Amino acid sequence: MSSDVSTTAADHAMRHWLSEEPGQIEIGSEAHKRLFCRMLLDTHNPYKPAVIVWPELDPAALQRITSLPIWDIAVQTEGRAQLRVAAYTDRVNDPLLREAMTMDGGEEARHKVVLSKLVEFYGIPLAPEPAYHIPKDPEWGWLVTGYSECIDSFFGFGLFESAKRTGYFPEELVETFEPVMQEETRHILFFANWIAWYRRQLPWWRRAAFELKVVRVWAYLIWERIGIARGLDGNGEMQDANFALTGTKQIGLDLKLSELLDLCLVEDERRAAGYDKRLLRPTFMPRLARLVRRFMR
Ligand SMILES: [Fe+2]
Ligand SMILES: [Fe+2]
Repeated sequence: MSSDVSTTAADHAMRHWLSEEPGQIEIGSEAHKRLFCRMLLDTHNPYKPAVIVWPELDPAALQRITSLPIWDIAVQTEGRAQLRVAAYTDRVNDPLLREAMTMDGGEEARHKVVLSKLVEFYGIPLAPEPAYHIPKDPEWGWLVTGYSECIDSFFGFGLFESAKRTGYFPEELVETFEPVMQEETRHILFFANWIAWYRRQLPWWRRAAFELKVVRVWAYLIWERIGIARGLDGNGEMQDANFALTGTKQIGLDLKLSELLDLCLVEDERRAAGYDKRLLRPTFMPRLARLVRRFMR
């Protein structure tokens, strides 16, 4: 098999997956756990960042790419994600879940390597990376990473697609980076199912504390994003402007917010369409986007 054929096969395999589990699957059951863990494990794309061939860009394209204010944030987000996922994985005893979470964390580590290679190849200057801290409460860290991926991927999918359509990202670069975007789709699918499953595992007396923690995580994520957007974060972390908030201007589009939300909704659905229909889909961001959409033309 030529390497082109095997790359295409791996790409198809990471986007399409049906479980062999028969019939309906009850959320929170052992079968449900097998469903979302196997999805992540079976759709892993074994590409190697070291052998990625970065396309040469013409000067204008290179200028557009290097001036995007996302690179520090992207590298640091992956660095933190990798650590947070690993810290929670250490707590997981179930062998299958542990295997899947190890893969999830490994993919975050690989994202960071891909980004570092990209940054190095195109000569993008980066701020020095801050020290990453292992969260005192690993469950908190894992929830923060999971939910922030749900928010950022939702906008990222739409912005990536519009940058592709306008040619802001040259086609070769879109193709090179595409597997990373699809990996985030698998991650948020995994997280949405994990949290539904996990809730059912908790005894009733731990449920209230857990739900409170989820609310605190959301409050933290909103606060973090407002801080990034205002550039108020003076502690050396996340120096970049927020891509999701300033992204449409940066990628040179005059997309109205309503058009961007529509594109995010379409892309969010399209990217998850190839996976077993019995897996839950992340719903919070799509619902919020549809709600906001109702008040816009
Ligand atoms: Fe990632
Ligand atoms: Fe991820």
